[in-house]
Amino acid sequence: MPRIADFRSDLMSGIPPAALQAMLQAARGMPEMGFRDDPFQLRLEREVAELAGFEDALFVPTCTLANQIALRLWCRPGDAILAASDSHVASSEAASTAGLAGVAVRRLAGRCGHLGPAAVQAALAQSHGPGTQPTRLVWLENTHMRAGGTLAPAGWGAAIGKLSRASGLRVHLDGSRLWNAETATGLPLAPLAEGADSLSLSLNKALGAPAGSLLLGPRDFIREAVAVRGTLGGAWRPVGFLAAAAIEALNGRTERLRADHERAGRLHGELAEAFGPLAGRAPDTNIVLLTLPAGSAASEIVDRLRREQVLALALDETTLRFVTHARIDDQAVAQAVDAVRRALCTAPEKATPS
Ligand SMILES: Cc1ncc(COP(=O)(O)O)c(C=O)c1O
Repeated sequence: MPRIADFRSDLMSGIPPAALQAMLQAARGMPEMGFRDDPFQLRLEREVAELAGFEDALFVPTCTLANQIALRLWCRPGDAILAASDSHVASSEAASTAGLAGVAVRRLAGRCGHLGPAAVQAALAQSHGPGTQPTRLVWLENTHMRAGGTLAPAGWGAAIGKLSRASGLRVHLDGSRLWNAETATGLPLAPLAEGADSLSLSLNKALGAPAGSLLLGPRDFIREAVAVRGTLGGAWRPVGFLAAAAIEALNGRTERLRADHERAGRLHGELAEAFGPLAGRAPDTNIVLLTLPAGSAASEIVDRLRREQVLALALDETTLRFVTHARIDDQAVAQAVDAVRRALCTAPEKATPS
């Protein structure tokens, strides 16, 4: 019986042993109340703020919450933001964006998921007419999940920051997987976040921290973020043991993520050999997207793969997502390729209306 190879998300990477140890040790100590008085939480926030070049940071339960706090603070209900069509804030998070922040998203075409300075400039030129909602924020995402973990082109964030500020807009970067961009480009976080007024970072995806994300920004913004986090029910405490694990999970990340990226490249190479252009472009980081042949239904293929102990996610009815992470080894990659070959060769045709 093959092992389960779980490619659904890098959330499934598991906690690195040293992080687990740090968590246990911290949990044995006296907990703090967590109103920004926990030494592990403060250290995590300070260290990552320094790494990313921001004044301050706040530990929050999820990246969705970090994003939604940023929307609340930079916008008012009824405002609009500019974002690439398939951004997380406009797709998986759309209900929160509308329901919690009351913000409309003006979806713009991006290149491999990324908004370019020219597209932003053109949209800004159209956003001041009478009767249009005020546009307050430009939303970037790096790496871009739905485009397949793609990297933002160098210099785009800085250029967008400059022209947004000239029009009185702020820029938020959803950097849920900015750690993968750090590894893939060899650049530190700070230049990767250039141009952004605020940044969200996941700690529990490829890094393997047990839970949590960070919201980063100017000191006053983070002071207000503490209050909004509480309003939205995210004032989690005590969480020193989770922060201690996250601090440890930051160590050795580059080697771990490099291995994930190499495996994604290998998976893509084998799928491209078998299915040609359906395997799309070679991955920049740890996400491989496979477009299904016309007529096959993603949910049916996912079921077939599950029967072979391979778990993948259907992003939509024609796209499967495979994410590599610390629990995906070479054997899991080979298992996935074999299972996909069999699933697609035996897939029944979707019924077509007569
Ligand atoms: C780009 C991006 N932003 C935000 C999120 C939300 O993260 P969370 O599940 O921690 O809310 C995700 C989740 O996959 C994501 O891919």
